[in-house]
This record gives sequence, structure tokens and C-alpha cells, in this order.
Amino acid sequence: MPVLKNVGLAVTCAAAGGQDAIHPIRRAALVWNSDDGRIVWIGEEHALPAAYASMPHEDAGGRLLIPGLIDCHTHLAFGGWRADEFERRLRGESYLDIARAGGGIASTVRATRAATAEALAARARTTLDAMMRLGVTTVECKSGYGLDRDNELKLLEVYRDLETPVRIVSTFLGAHVVPAEYRERRQDYIALLCDDLIPEIARRGLASFCDVFVEDTAFSIAEARAILRAGQAHGLRSKLHADQLHDGGGAALAAEVGAVSADHLEHVSDDGIARLRDAGASAGAGVVAVSLPIATLYLQAPPMPARHLIEAGVPVAVATDFNPGSAPSYHLPLALTLACTMQRMTPSEALKGATLYAARAIGLDQEIGSLEPGKSADFALIDAADVTTWLYHFQPNACAAAWIRGQRVV
Ligand code: NIG
Ligand code: FE
Repeated sequence: MPVLKNVGLAVTCAAAGGQDAIHPIRRAALVWNSDDGRIVWIGEEHALPAAYASMPHEDAGGRLLIPGLIDCHTHLAFGGWRADEFERRLRGESYLDIARAGGGIASTVRATRAATAEALAARARTTLDAMMRLGVTTVECKSGYGLDRDNELKLLEVYRDLETPVRIVSTFLGAHVVPAEYRERRQDYIALLCDDLIPEIARRGLASFCDVFVEDTAFSIAEARAILRAGQAHGLRSKLHADQLHDGGGAALAAEVGAVSADHLEHVSDDGIARLRDAGASAGAGVVAVSLPIATLYLQAPPMPARHLIEAGVPVAVATDFNPGSAPSYHLPLALTLACTMQRMTPSEALKGATLYAARAIGLDQEIGSLEPGKSADFALIDAADVTTWLYHFQPNACAAAWIRGQRVV
């Protein structure tokens, strides 16, 4: 059984306590089982049971040990980039102006439809390798740049077939926007999603979640409700892109349908926060609010009111939103530092948001997200004395090593 010794500080990120409770252990050791890839023991090294103390061990060099980072919101596979739009926005055009003029998501849809599955997979693998080197061990991947039958299935099949040690969780985002060819008959597109694609995707096990972008340029609350309910009827749990560009009632809808997460929330209203709070109080784990501060930064939007959410008792996750438009970076530690500087989360709160609460946002908090016996041995060593120092002194990459299911991957 492998043993990791000489950990300067371990933070388990176990559930007990609130958003800032990351449960530090000084001078720690970790034991895992290489056969089933699960954690067996974690604690202070001096308390290591004798049976493990004599086993061959690896030396953590006094570094910081964290649960493997979980990026619970990405649009991983897409064709092309949109650097031109980055510059157009800097010159004064808005994200929505560009979308209404046929750019934005529609432009990536054209490039994604034109790309082969092999090309999309090769790019996705390169990105995942880079994410893994940052200490990211699980990635949620959305479709949503195909927007027709063949191309949505193409994206989900790319995710299913990815050869990577990274744990992949797929989300069907056919309801990203209504594609141009359905603009005059959007009901037909919604019928394609609800009556055709959702049943097939669920039957073939191609996705675990169904997501909808609620926005003036995308889907209304009533449309989103119908699509999410159709997903639920086929076993796909709900997620939402909610209240990103204005308050559209997305948070309340997330609470109403029992979504696992409501993502973005830059413009969530006080009422929306109250609904998320009440959903958490009445229904088990409730809705996780997923903050995406890289998108907030690139769109120069107001930050998600993370403090209000946390004070209301709503768990806040942090993810990248990696996509070619609003968030062209997959750097999750950057998102964590931005969650601190833009959303006034403490470094501990931000880390819990990219570990246990991120796991909750993808329904996997019994399996990953914290360093506890029985959970998957997904963890990373960070070259920093503690979490605050790590996120304060932002570096291109502070991750020194990472393991997934007990196997060393970095
Ligand atoms: O999460 N909000 C909608 N979807 C993405 C942006 C997609 C794009 O611009 O290509 C987001 O920000
Ligand atoms: Fe997104």
C-alpha cells in the first residue's frame, strides 16, 4: 500500500463545517490502496499506524497536499477560437451585440460542426493534459457547440471516448442557443431536444446532466423548465447557466426544479439567493452556486455576489467555464485566485469550492472532493506552505505532482 510522508500541510476539505472549513493537518501522511485506488488513512504522520509506517513511501518534500482539483463547468471541446471578438469587446462592442450579429456561440458552432471528431478529441486531450499538470483530476465537459443531432452526439461521443486518466463527467447542453436554421421555428428545436436527443443521450449513457442557458438570446424560463423536466424524466439531473448577463430568474428556476447547480449568477437577485437558500434548507444538499470568475473577468462583468450566497448558507463552487468566448482559459488555480480578489472569497473558501463543493455540483461528493478514507485517491501536491500563500503568490503552475485513482499522473 503506497504511503506519502513528509506532507508539510494537508487540507482534507471534508464536508463538516462551512465553506471555509478545509480541515488542515500539519505534518501529515496519506495511505492509499493501489488495487482499488482508494484512500485508506490520513492523519498526522506521528500517528501513522505501525502496519503502514514500515511500508515503502514517497516523500512529499514538506509540500501542501490538497484533494485533486475539480473543474465542474467547462465547454471543453470546440472548433476554432474567437480572439477577434476579444478585441471587438475591448473596442466597445458587447458580448450580446456580437452574438446578435451572428458571432459568439454561433461562430463556434460553425467551427465545431466543421471539425472532425478526431480533431476535437486531439485538442481536448491536449487541454486535459495541461489541466492535469495544474492538479485538476476531474473535469465536467459540456456539449452545446453542435446544436444539431449529429454534432451534439459527436461532442458527447468525443467525451465518452477520451483516452485520459482525468475523470470525465458529461453534460448535454443542446439548449445553449437556438441554432440559426431553427430561428423561425424554435419550438421545433425544443422538440428535437426533448423528444429525440434527450431520450437517446440518456439511453446511451452519453451524459449525466442536462444544462440550459437561460438568457434573452438563448432560452426563456418556461422553455428551460420544459427542457430540464424532459431531462429529469430520462434520469439527467439539471444544471443551469443562470443570471449571467442579467437577472432572468434562473436561480429561482434552479431551486424549483431541484438542479444540482446554478452557474454564473453574476446578476442573481436577492430573491434568487433566498430561493437557493430555501432549496438547500429543504432538500438535502440543495443547489450549488457555481462561480465562474474567469468569464466575469473577460466580460468585465460584476462579480457573482459570493459573500451574500455564502452568508445565506449556499455552497459556492469555483470553476473555469473554459470556452472560446467568455472564458478562454482552463487555468483553475487562476479562477481560485480571482474568486478571492473579485468575489472576496477567502483562499480556504475558494479551495473548498474547487474540491468538495465542485464534486457536489456534479453529484460525485461521495466519491471525490475530499481526502477521506474510502474516497478515490485523487490528490495533488502544491509547492506552497499553505493555501493562502498558494493563491496569493499566483504562479503559472505550483502543482508538483498529482495522482488519480491512486496512480501518479504528474
Ligand atoms: O458559460 N453563457 C453561455 N455559455 C458560455 C459562453 C459560451 C461562448 O461564448 O462560447 C458561458 O459563458
Ligand atoms: Fe458555461
